[in-house]
Amino acid sequence: MSVLEKYKAMEYGPAPEDPKETLVWLDAHKRRFGHFIGGKWQAPSEGKYFETSDPATGEKIADVAQGSAADVDAAVKAARGALPVWQGYSPHERAKYLYALARQIQKHSRRLAVLETIDNGKPIRESRDIDIPLVARHFYHHAGWAQLLHQEFPGYSSCGVVGQIIPWNFPLLMLAWKIAPALATGNTVVLKPAEFTPLTALAFAEICVEVGLPTGVVNIITGDGSSGEALVRHSDVDKIAFTGSTEVGRAIRRATATSHKKLSLELGGKSPFIIFEDADLDSAVEGLVDGIWLNQGQVCCAGSRLLMQESIAEKLTRKVQARMSTLRVGSPLDKAIDVGAIVAKVQLERIDSLVNQGIAEGATCWQPEISLPSRGLYYKPTFLSNVHPTSIVAQQEIFGPVLAAMTFRTPKEAVELANNTAYGLAASVWSESINVSLHVASQLKAGVVWVNCTNMFDAACGFGGYRESGYGREGGREGLLEYLEPTWFKSAPKLSSDAPANGVAEVASPSIDRTVKLYIGGKQARPDSGYSIEVRGLNDQLLGESPLGNRKDIRNAVEAARRAEGWARTTAHNRAQVLFYIAENLSQRSAEIAQCLSAAVGAKQAEHEVKASIERLFSYAAWTDKFDGAVHNPPFRNIAIAMNEPVGTVGLLCPSDTPLLGFFSLVLPLIAAGNSVVAVPSEKYPLIAGDLYQVFETSDLPGGVINIVPGRTPELLKTLAEHDDLDAIWCYGDESLCATTKALSVGNLKQVWTNEGRAIDFFDRTQSEGRWYLAHAYQLKNIWVPYGE
Ligand code: NAI
Repeated sequence: MSVLEKYKAMEYGPAPEDPKETLVWLDAHKRRFGHFIGGKWQAPSEGKYFETSDPATGEKIADVAQGSAADVDAAVKAARGALPVWQGYSPHERAKYLYALARQIQKHSRRLAVLETIDNGKPIRESRDIDIPLVARHFYHHAGWAQLLHQEFPGYSSCGVVGQIIPWNFPLLMLAWKIAPALATGNTVVLKPAEFTPLTALAFAEICVEVGLPTGVVNIITGDGSSGEALVRHSDVDKIAFTGSTEVGRAIRRATATSHKKLSLELGGKSPFIIFEDADLDSAVEGLVDGIWLNQGQVCCAGSRLLMQESIAEKLTRKVQARMSTLRVGSPLDKAIDVGAIVAKVQLERIDSLVNQGIAEGATCWQPEISLPSRGLYYKPTFLSNVHPTSIVAQQEIFGPVLAAMTFRTPKEAVELANNTAYGLAASVWSESINVSLHVASQLKAGVVWVNCTNMFDAACGFGGYRESGYGREGGREGLLEYLEPTWFKSAPKLSSDAPANGVAEVASPSIDRTVKLYIGGKQARPDSGYSIEVRGLNDQLLGESPLGNRKDIRNAVEAARRAEGWARTTAHNRAQVLFYIAENLSQRSAEIAQCLSAAVGAKQAEHEVKASIERLFSYAAWTDKFDGAVHNPPFRNIAIAMNEPVGTVGLLCPSDTPLLGFFSLVLPLIAAGNSVVAVPSEKYPLIAGDLYQVFETSDLPGGVINIVPGRTPELLKTLAEHDDLDAIWCYGDESLCATTKALSVGNLKQVWTNEGRAIDFFDRTQSEGRWYLAHAYQLKNIWVPYGE
């Protein structure tokens, strides 16, 4: 036998991590944990505990408190009580606490890594080298943001008490992603870890005590979904941040619809791993190992769909399978293990059942001939080929070490396949051609795209999804906005239906009888219903007839808006030109438009609205090429390009009282960003379409970018909110309209943005234009690009 043969035949010896210090820590707590509320350990009010066990052995580790609604209430009260104390500290003082947390985490990093591994089943190599260092990095990075808060976010305030619910796949890391930005921005927290993996959150609670964090700033409630639900429903929580399954995300969205809780959702994914024929195949295979077998594939952004260019599919499959045969599955505490244990029996069964369904649907299953440990929850790395794009294993999150492989011929086909799921969390693109990779990256519906790399994370770079993978970002400047609100917004009064209109309502002008149509796809259209409604002015005089739009009209308008998606690809310069041109044409017709509008809102307000609308057009024409993204510098040989992309096709319910200015204040940030819009105009003055279509037509605005469908708001709202082909819905109205919008739009988890029933003064530029609006009109895609050889 040659040396090389001997070398290849050599078996790995065991390299066990010594868990002694962690076991001592568990014993010191008598292996029984209460909740961490107001800086103290508290027994559960109903006296119930549940077991947490080691998935690698099945052995019980500890008893943990089951949180009741009363426990959640106590924790929320503690967080509320601590809010003035925490906010009373200067940013520098808060920064020092975050810095101290980071230091303390580093000091106990090995104990935390071992605890994570025995509670979750992930290889110690990962918890030690990936999870815990990233946890520390998050607290360091956010210590910096705490320090810079006032300089970098003037005019913003914290949300208040934040409820955070996290999953079991990266327990301490998800805690860090949630708690660090919340504290840096002056919020206080009640966090509920997942029931399978509560222990590192409890160890973190102890670290909060060790660094002397003021009591009540961080509270940890353990328990199952019912404890999470109690937190979501608690009336004194200002924001909910959730990471977990899309199904629970949807339930949370529904449960918070009638409240004013701000919501961010980081949900599931079915991320494509796209390999082009010119890729460095060996690197791509190593990337794939990280992409799908990291953490046993229990990763929301796992590269679970392998898309191979047809010309290399066979060769690549052989390489992947050869590499899979060398993966070592076994005790997670063994330092030479690649794949550890699955977190819980229910998850193991779920993985198996989905794989069997995939096979029944025609997939070919290949697994390496490796032996699994005789006890514990393990699943072999699995390669499914001949997977049909509509198969359950190509569409549903399996959350296990299972790869579903498909082929494509052209970049266009790769993009189509990649985007062919309801999700949009992440993607990985492998090609030596920077042109191909960036061109494909820009077309992928995903919040994160890794070029020639995968599963890269950093505290400075935003992470989060498109479509049913949720919304909101975690990490960096973009993540901080999830925990902040403009100060003016927090203090804006509630809109009441009988409030006087903004501006001055006075003598009405004589009525001008007019009959307007819908404005769809750049053309005037008759309403499908064949009905019109009378529009009356200030003195109840008849102003004209407005078409009564219905479901079919909305559907036509959404189709037209979809067809106008090319608007997103026009240059920002061109979009600015169109907005300037609209301003020019509006200005030319200003007297006539003000005259029409005056019958509804009075001459003075009408004049102001037209003037301010022209100014707003100039503002957003200016913004089109100035709302830039960023280039992040993570501590690796990568840059992450944070690109602002339009959300897509957006439904809009316009404010009632400022029919023209309100319309423009919401439509303009959307179209400046490259979205297309279906707008339901002010019910008070729906004749606006008639005022504007000639302005749009003479301003080079492509047909379908703005569509206007007047009608009865509640009826049109329902169709808009439930429409699966809309990416977002914006609603400006009273509290009940906003709540209905949120509740009805749960289906495809479209982004929803409302004024929360508050009165916004559209004549005040601080409140009604600029970055806050643009931040909602765009979504961020972080494209990671490595450099160096
Ligand atoms: P899950 O979504 O049920 O659990 C996540 C967290 O939400 C846990 O803390 C849980 O206690 C809590 N929760 C459950 N029901 C709740 C409710 N009604 N209100 C508030 N909080 C609630 O995820 P689960 O059941 O553990 O895993 C099922 C599947 O979900 C996985 O197989 C995977 O496909 C997906 N998942 C995705 C994750 C991601 O990071 N995207 C993380 C965990 C699971």
